[in-house]
Amino acid sequence: VGITTEMMENLDKSFMFEKIAELPDQIREGWRIAGEADRPIDFDRIHSIVFAGMGGSAIAGDIIRGFLGDALRMPFHVNREYGLPGFAGSGTLLIASSYSGNTEETLSAVREALNRGCDWRAVTSGGQLGETARQKKRPLITLPPGYPPRAALGYSLGALLNLFSPLVPGLDQSAIDATVGFLKDESGPWLDIGLHENKPLALAEKLTGRLPLLYTSTGSGEAVAMRWKAQINENAKTHAFVGLLPEMNHNEIMGWEQNQGNIDILKLMAPVIIRFKNDHDRVRIRMALTRRIIERIEVEVHEIEARGSNLLDQILYLILFGDLVSFYMAILQGVDPTAIGNINALKKGLQPSQS
Ligand code: F6R
Repeated sequence: VGITTEMMENLDKSFMFEKIAELPDQIREGWRIAGEADRPIDFDRIHSIVFAGMGGSAIAGDIIRGFLGDALRMPFHVNREYGLPGFAGSGTLLIASSYSGNTEETLSAVREALNRGCDWRAVTSGGQLGETARQKKRPLITLPPGYPPRAALGYSLGALLNLFSPLVPGLDQSAIDATVGFLKDESGPWLDIGLHENKPLALAEKLTGRLPLLYTSTGSGEAVAMRWKAQINENAKTHAFVGLLPEMNHNEIMGWEQNQGNIDILKLMAPVIIRFKNDHDRVRIRMALTRRIIERIEVEVHEIEARGSNLLDQILYLILFGDLVSFYMAILQGVDPTAIGNINALKKGLQPSQS
């Protein structure tokens, strides 16, 4: 196995590789755009936050929620549907996130927010969402156009980091610069397909032709694993599933008990344990025990531990790593990482008929 420049050129016609590699720069640019377009959130004036978005435009909400953790003293709901939760009303801040600005679930949530008198703002590259925000004179963060939404994650995340910076002591321009520098240093070897120590490529080779099962801890891990899953789905056109610890120790772990009915399925699975430096002590023990249980039936378990001196660095380290795993899986499996035929077909099928 391995990847050649020729394979990359033939399959990656829309330059997904370059877009993934620029994640660190996107973070810095998103932070800057938000600083010029919008004010940080005034948390004394709201009691809850709803982040409305789908797919590649929703994940920044999960990531920021995981990152903020206990610093967030109010409910933060990532809303992936047409309606809004019952608690949303005046005193709720709705952040509507749709890269295209034309995602129907997100637009519907915005209409509902208008009915209920929520405060709201938008993050988009344009579309109907941009139009509505302008009409209603709401704060609007405009992202650079021309990206597949999932490949613009750095922009939306950088913007959100700026909006939420009042909650995180020390999160300022120089902290962002340090994170960007860290990510660039770490990802250097990951971008070189000729390098033996290219870790995302090595993992992609192990996952290719298998069903990745992403095991990680609740909180930031959940957001990271959901990103890995979505990127493997969309870039590599491959199923992937997420299991969270400690919860999966109470149910899913039983799926690793071999019997005559499941033996062929188990051999196709590729479990990946995604770890943070600050995982709960008991969760670390659970991860080790889980690994031992799986290895008893001779399934190879892969493991990746975040590097980085703070949580933001660790989250972004794992996200960039996973994005590259999904990209290399696509190339190894002979598919164009950018193409999303089924998603487009669904969106088209939902449009009112022209006849
Ligand atoms: C495509 C992608 C999708 C979209 C989703 C919502 O790259 O990642 O998951 O993000 O279909 O569309 P937008 O982001 O335009 O609201």
